[in-house]
Amino acid sequence: MRDEDIEKIEEISLYTYLKDGKEVQLLTNEEKYNLSIRKGTLTAEEKLIMNSHAKLSYDMLTALPFPKKYSNVVHIAVNHHEKLNGKGYPRGLSEKDLVLEDRIMILADIFEALTASDRPYKGAKKLSEVFKILSFMAKDNEIDADLLKFFQNSKTLEEYAKDQLLPMQIDEFKSI
Ligand SMILES: [Fe+2]
Repeated sequence: MRDEDIEKIEEISLYTYLKDGKEVQLLTNEEKYNLSIRKGTLTAEEKLIMNSHAKLSYDMLTALPFPKKYSNVVHIAVNHHEKLNGKGYPRGLSEKDLVLEDRIMILADIFEALTASDRPYKGAKKLSEVFKILSFMAKDNEIDADLLKFFQNSKTLEEYAKDQLLPMQIDEFKSI
């Protein structure tokens, strides 16, 4: 949403109409706010609620007594929305903090979300579309490019596609 569009909504909101003899504003403040989202479909408050699940994972998992060899589980789970370029959440970690297991989880989470066919708010994407998005993300240093390349050529992808994706989703894609 560009500045001009937001101004236009502001303008439109000033119109009034008569309802049962009373003058009513065309858009309520809440409607105006919800229509003025600059990027994506969520307001800042909705984003905060959505993002809090990573922090909640931390609170819940740190309360559990993990055996020593699984002590990393907490971090791997909590870090699944972090980005290598430091723009992720909840901790805004960067490349130097994110170990291989974190990077695998980050990639797996995005790949699963993009390919899922059971989300009412979006259709199932084809592999070619999914890997196009993922290679943009790798270019922006959000995800690990080497890992993405490794995944694209792996047996894991082949097996996951066979088990979990719809036949129409499995198409030719460009490897990065
Ligand atoms: Fe998540």
